[in-house]
Amino acid sequence: MTTSSAPGKIILFGEHAVVYGRPALAVPVTQVHADVEVSDSSRAGIWINAPDVDLHAELNTLPCDHPVAAVIYNLFFSLGISPHPSPLSRRERGWGEGLEIKISSTIPVASGLGSGAAVTVALLRALSSFLFHPLSDEQVNSLAYEIEKLHHGTPSGIDNTVITYARPVYFIKHPPSPSRSPTGVLREGAGGEVETVKVGAPFTIVIGDTGISAPTKQSVSDVRKLWLKNTNRFERVFDEVGQIALMARRVIESGQPALLGDLMDQNHALLQEITVSSPELDRLVRAARKAGALGAKMSGGGRGGNMIALVNKESAPAVAEALRSAGAIRTIITTVQAI
Ligand code: MEV
Repeated sequence: MTTSSAPGKIILFGEHAVVYGRPALAVPVTQVHADVEVSDSSRAGIWINAPDVDLHAELNTLPCDHPVAAVIYNLFFSLGISPHPSPLSRRERGWGEGLEIKISSTIPVASGLGSGAAVTVALLRALSSFLFHPLSDEQVNSLAYEIEKLHHGTPSGIDNTVITYARPVYFIKHPPSPSRSPTGVLREGAGGEVETVKVGAPFTIVIGDTGISAPTKQSVSDVRKLWLKNTNRFERVFDEVGQIALMARRVIESGQPALLGDLMDQNHALLQEITVSSPELDRLVRAARKAGALGAKMSGGGRGGNMIALVNKESAPAVAEALRSAGAIRTIITTVQAI
């Protein structure tokens, strides 16, 4: 049996602008995770059991573009292995009659915490290990990006990247212009350039969930339509967002995270300008600031999903409480550790 777990993620700065080549910052959220277990089965076929989403099915019965089936087919294909091996090659690979794949996740769906990408990453790792072909992080990231493209249209690749590497990342989607090309590139591939972010001092964030499920694909496609109509204005906004992400990175690296508060407020205003915030997100952002947060913004695709607030560790419970009173259905307090 093989198992794998992948964290959720939250975007600190730069969502949407990252799709247009500007940098963005994201961190893993380990309080929520997707878990996958792959084991031998006496039942023929590849059986998928995901009770959270009420999925109990044999691979063959799922459409090829089903989110879980697509990951499995893509992995088998890229390893050059048939998902329906003959009895002889099954025996050679040490399978019984078939495989059992159990998937569970505590990451809320369509809320900006990367639920789909986390399941993909955990599934790729558990299944590739089971098949005796463990993948490198780069391989996991690039396969996960292919799956993200299948389901999210034109994703930047930041979600799969932060979840694969499970550490804070500064990410620039390909193709970056030479003037934006960063130094110290950690890895290339899977849609963009990823740089490690040194965290000079720890900082705490409260995540507040509006409870409104909002698919990223929709907001990304709406922004694209508006960008096509108002290209100059949107490009200016994206430039400003990119500058904020760059400043935020410097602030994080220099160990002065309190300065992130203002940057969050500025980033939120720009996200409002490109119409991806919502009355519910704005209400939570205001409530967090009123309860003592140093700054707050929506996070991810927007129109629902999550917002984040920068807090002093001591004020975190009060801000979380204020968010719940203002309508958040769930709050998570997470600390980004110094590394
Ligand atoms: C989604 O988590 C972040 C967006 O910028 C989309 C993307 O980067 O693919 C809205």
